[in-house]
Amino acid sequence: MQCSWKAVLLLALASIAIQYTAIRTFTAKSFHSCPIPVNCSLSQDADAAERLCDESPTFAYNLSTRKTHVLILATTRSGSSFVGQLFNQHFDVFYLFEPLYHVQYTLIPKLTQSKSTTDRRVMLGASRDLLRSLYDCDLYFLENYIKPQPVNHTTDRLFRRGASKALCSPPVCEALGAVDLHLEEGDCVKKCGTLNLTLATESCREHGHVAIKTVRVPEVSDLRALVEDPRLNLKVIQLVRDPRGILASRSETFRDTYRLWRIWDGTGRKPYNLDVTQLTMVCEDFWNSVSTGLNRPPWLKGKYMLVRYEDLARNPMKKTEEIYDFLGIPMDGNVERWIQNNTRGDRSSSKHKYGTVRNSAATAEKWRFRLSYEIVAFTQRACQQVLAQLGYRAARSEEELKNLSISLVEERDFLPFS
Ligand SMILES: *[C@@H]1O[C@H](CO)[C@@H](O)[C@H](O)[C@H]1NC(C)=O
Ligand SMILES: *[C@@H]1O[C@H](CO)[C@@H](O)[C@H](O)[C@H]1NC(C)=O
Ligand SMILES: *[C@@H]1O[C@H](CO)[C@@H](O)[C@H](O)[C@H]1NC(C)=O
Ligand SMILES: *[C@@H]1O[C@H](CO)[C@@H](O)[C@H](O)[C@H]1NC(C)=O
Ligand SMILES: *[C@@H]1O[C@H](CO)[C@@H](O)[C@H](O)[C@H]1NC(C)=O
Ligand SMILES: *[C@@H]1O[C@H](CO)[C@@H](O)[C@H](O)[C@H]1NC(C)=O
Repeated sequence: MQCSWKAVLLLALASIAIQYTAIRTFTAKSFHSCPIPVNCSLSQDADAAERLCDESPTFAYNLSTRKTHVLILATTRSGSSFVGQLFNQHFDVFYLFEPLYHVQYTLIPKLTQSKSTTDRRVMLGASRDLLRSLYDCDLYFLENYIKPQPVNHTTDRLFRRGASKALCSPPVCEALGAVDLHLEEGDCVKKCGTLNLTLATESCREHGHVAIKTVRVPEVSDLRALVEDPRLNLKVIQLVRDPRGILASRSETFRDTYRLWRIWDGTGRKPYNLDVTQLTMVCEDFWNSVSTGLNRPPWLKGKYMLVRYEDLARNPMKKTEEIYDFLGIPMDGNVERWIQNNTRGDRSSSKHKYGTVRNSAATAEKWRFRLSYEIVAFTQRACQQVLAQLGYRAARSEEELKNLSISLVEERDFLPFS
């Protein structure tokens, strides 16, 4: 009983602190659904059990199912849409594109300083709770974070619903058949209409596995409570990319936010008010997270795989097979076909900024022509440690930077450990 009270207290504190009605709704729920459905001593590790019970007071789980729960841990412009597709295309995977968007979107305005550690804790706690529910196919739990609050378990506000194949095909959407393989996101939203979360839940249950992509969890250690949760079977794919490539891609995609970097690039003068944390945060998060993973802690055994976007881009089929091997999920012909269709030739009709249809190998190297050598050199100094850790070579001159026959990606095998 002790642990459930602690959980209730925590939740109550959180809801007082942030005055957030949805949080209060589910706090109220947790008062009624105590005691915890799962015996805390299920976990062999006492610490893990405590964390577990601290953070998940309310959910009933179906212990008999043994789905694989995949988390793609990524950052913006690191190739996460591409990796997401490797799961989205699999017939037996229920894939969700960035559901944690809703947590951030709902909580951030309520939180005073979004970078404070308390806010970060609240957000990560809420994110873990949501992930836990989604892996359990409880899509109603998302309703706590969708505004306006869904009525009769239906909504047209799910973020990037069209990016999830399962939410655009039967039983969720009867308007589209299994034949519509090349559906554009917008067409799904138009043709399928309002999303019925009851049907989405059914669809999730019918799939053998659940995969979720997120750019909203900074480090793998933030997921420890989920990795150790005996009710889940979580496997983390950490996707990294050369920070120089991320910077170039973000500057192009988020033109306003990265305006000062573009000014630097264009004028050759570094603006005095440049926000370098836009770069260094990425490097710090990578460094912390990858260090944790490469240290091979027992809690990550068999649960963590590091993937460099560049390796995937150069050899998509082989890398994808390795990923599926690690997960223990048989590869599906749809995935193979999708790779063949989307990584070759110059079918570079990248229609919108999150498009994944392009020549993957060339795309991964484009940054070398987009960034000035000065910015590259700055990045190499600021991110020196993590570049070395991940096997990205520094370019020592402008000539080296622009000469594509000089590889800046060292051959490395980051094999999962078990
Ligand atoms: C939890 O499980 C342990 C060992 O299986 C058992 O001894 C204990 O009585 C259980 N506690 C509750 C509250 O069910
Ligand atoms: C648990 O899941 C299995 C497989 O999906 C299903 O057959 C069973 O009825 C479920 N049990 C409960 C209690 O929901
Ligand atoms: C929700 O369902 C109830 C009962 O079927 C119905 O009366 C009501 O109009 C529905 N609300 C909306 C917004 O569809
Ligand atoms: C959503 O789907 C469920 C299951 O088929 C159905 O019972 C329910 O009426 C649907 N909800 C709405 C609002 O259509
Ligand atoms: C691959 O592309 C071809 C030709 O564009 C198309 O006919 C086929 O349906 C595509 N297949 C997949 C699985 O994307
Ligand atoms: C590019 O690098 C290669 C290998 O070091 C070298 O042989 C070649 O001359 C370089 N090309 C140019 C244009 O500098």
